[in-house]
Amino acid sequence: MIPPISGFSKLSKVEKIQWLAEHHFHNSNATIDVLKTYWNSDEKLQQLHDEFTENTVSNYYLPFGVAPNFIINGSRYTIPMAIEESSVVAAASKAAKFWENRGGFKAEVISTTKIGQVHFNYNGAIDKLKSFFKAVKPKLIEASQNITKNMEKRGGGIIDIQLIDKTTDLEHYYQLHCSFETVDAMGANFINSCLEQFASTLKNEAAIYPEFSDEEKDLEIMMSILSNYVPDCIVKAEVSCPIKDLPNTTELSSLQYAQKFVRAIKIAQIEPYRAVTHNKGIMNGIDAVVLATGNDFRAIEAGAHAYAAKNGIYASLTHASIENDVFHFYIELPLALGTVGGLTTLHPLVKLALQMLQSPNAKELMKITAVAGLAQNFAAVNSLITTGIQQGHMKMHLMNILNQFQATPTEKENLVSYFKTNPVSHSEVVTQLEKLRS
Ligand code: MEV
Repeated sequence: MIPPISGFSKLSKVEKIQWLAEHHFHNSNATIDVLKTYWNSDEKLQQLHDEFTENTVSNYYLPFGVAPNFIINGSRYTIPMAIEESSVVAAASKAAKFWENRGGFKAEVISTTKIGQVHFNYNGAIDKLKSFFKAVKPKLIEASQNITKNMEKRGGGIIDIQLIDKTTDLEHYYQLHCSFETVDAMGANFINSCLEQFASTLKNEAAIYPEFSDEEKDLEIMMSILSNYVPDCIVKAEVSCPIKDLPNTTELSSLQYAQKFVRAIKIAQIEPYRAVTHNKGIMNGIDAVVLATGNDFRAIEAGAHAYAAKNGIYASLTHASIENDVFHFYIELPLALGTVGGLTTLHPLVKLALQMLQSPNAKELMKITAVAGLAQNFAAVNSLITTGIQQGHMKMHLMNILNQFQATPTEKENLVSYFKTNPVSHSEVVTQLEKLRS
């Protein structure tokens, strides 16, 4: 049984590692060595990473890859992607190359409004609450001026505050439903600071509102927090081309390819089991860009999946159609991204990623990220309706299997060449490796 520990966070990094080694790894030096192997020799850089979060004992590496040849609204981009999964960067690059000579990707930001809520309980007459809210609304905005003034200078700020009656769903439950424009910041800190200020003003003003009874004056704040559901922070990315420019093989004509593709997307629109995997593939591309650019991928994931279920059934984030012999394929999703604040000026690789993308503002980053999601989905559906996913996937996975068996550079070279013309499976790789070694 591992003993409890108090004050763990106060221990030095070395002491934390020693504690881990003692209580989880039988005092193994090998464990300590593994953790230390991933420390950066540049002490300043290591300290920066240590301080991003708490109880840091080492760094956790993810590959940082790039997908070149993306044409977006006529400009050329190389997209940085931080992801461990084989095939994702290769698939993005392949899709970029395919669309490069077919007009590239087009993308537009449809809206940029973000949402936050103050949830509170009020036990009293609704009409009185409505009159109180009308009187207090300008004070809510005024009292948060020291928080909003810088954001206002940059063109953002509070858009609106609404009182919402939720008492049919939950007794005494009301909200201040607040909308914000946060320009190039993701805006979580700005929104949460505003909300906490609204909550405090609301509470204090209620306590002295002369029309309220004592019970009504005792309005209770439950919580103040932004929402990661941002259905009004939407970006759309699309591709289209004449059907004759789509792949044409012995198995499928271009028209059959287009029809099969459109039907595959329809399946993801009506069948949640498929839609979840379909959207997971989209998020392979999106998360990789979100991570590389220092944004919060959990927020993006939560918002995207909620949006996928906005019509009451979990459905595809992408859509495809054939109109007048032209194939159309697009994605529409919420992406609350930032290019200032957070890690953007701290993490050296995030800075580099943003530079690689030509220092985009938040709207530009929304477009690039949506394109990465669309490209990923195009590549996945293309494989699924033609060769199947495993052919490409296992080819990329080959290196992981070879590394698992500590293949030497010569063994790798031999087997990569062998599997160029033979189907990859875990057992076949092992067999061929054993053959080589015997
Ligand atoms: C694998 O990470 C993603 C796919 O399953 C996506 C899809 O099925 O569309 C290939």
